[in-house]
Amino acid sequence: MYRSKITGMGFHVPDIVLQNNDLKQWMDTSDKWIQERSGIKERHWVSEKEAASDLALVASKKAMAMAGIEASEIDLIVVATISPDYFFPGVANQLQSILGLRTVGTFDIKAACSGFIYGLSIADQFIRTGQHKTVMVVGTEAQSKFIDLSTRGRDMGVLFGDGSGAAILRRSDDESGVLSTHIHSEGADMKNLWMEAPGTSGKNWMNQKTIDNGVHHPFMNGREVFKNAVRRFPEVINEALEANNLSIGDIKLVIPHQANYRISQAVAKRLGVGMDVVYSNIHKYGNTTAASIPIALSEALDEGRIERGDHIILAAFGAGYTWASAAIRW
Ligand code: UT7
Repeated sequence: MYRSKITGMGFHVPDIVLQNNDLKQWMDTSDKWIQERSGIKERHWVSEKEAASDLALVASKKAMAMAGIEASEIDLIVVATISPDYFFPGVANQLQSILGLRTVGTFDIKAACSGFIYGLSIADQFIRTGQHKTVMVVGTEAQSKFIDLSTRGRDMGVLFGDGSGAAILRRSDDESGVLSTHIHSEGADMKNLWMEAPGTSGKNWMNQKTIDNGVHHPFMNGREVFKNAVRRFPEVINEALEANNLSIGDIKLVIPHQANYRISQAVAKRLGVGMDVVYSNIHKYGNTTAASIPIALSEALDEGRIERGDHIILAAFGAGYTWASAAIRW
């Protein structure tokens, strides 16, 4: 069995920056509320002309540059997103064309905030079995285009940001690499965090009633999601530790999905570590859903917080519910 290894990472956020106070032009909110409840100070939003694939392209090129590979060396493209350019085909399919790739397989994953780790897990399985040698996994979101900017949607509207992060995974030729991945899901509570339309559950998938009812915007039962996140994050991190016979003291950095600074604090407390071990950059980007982990991992590397031989754990919880973790020896 082979092992996979991340050889390149890159991220990109769009140019438009919105401070918390900028949101007051659309909704009844305050900088104080947003910072106290979430830790967010600002977020980046796409322009009218940009979409999820545009962000993905820039992040992908940076990841390829760090890995020192040409696009033509990529065997498979996996994109995690809940805000694709089009309902179909997927962003991975678009990326392939823009990068001028040959006919390699491509597909999108809709596992919300856990999407990047789901993608990493899929890439890892393909590399372990020897079916693929070089897989690109991207998390990309342009969700500012579907958030409800009115006071009705303010609980979610202030949290979301846009961005993209990409990873190149290749066969490892040493002891470093992805040690394990664990993916989970619980559909029973899906309506606590979901977007009902567009979809085929109604008479037709998008109509005036859909728009009037606002169900083409995401909805979240924040308190329920918070409670589940605080429970599932430590659970899936411990699962990763146990699978590799590691203890939390062996971990240089936990990189959680950036959902809420208070969630990360609660997770750190339950794990018995300080916030120096739990990476956070939510103050700059907000919650970028599938992009948050690859953005955070890229920044942590840029900041020199991960060195060769370090053990790190990626962990996510989000809509679905879905949750997941990956243990990596860098
Ligand atoms: O990435 C996927 C996973 N997502 C998450 O993990 C997010 C989980 N949930 C959360 O992060 C938190 O629940 C929120 C940040 C969304 C909300 O924080 P909270 O402490 O749970 O606040 P709350 O929903 O209980 O709302 C408290 C009050 C309410 O007013 P009343 O009913 O007490 O009068 C809300 O209407 O805050 C009000 N509120 C706001 N006020 C100003 C809700 N959103 C806003 C806002 N600005 N944006």
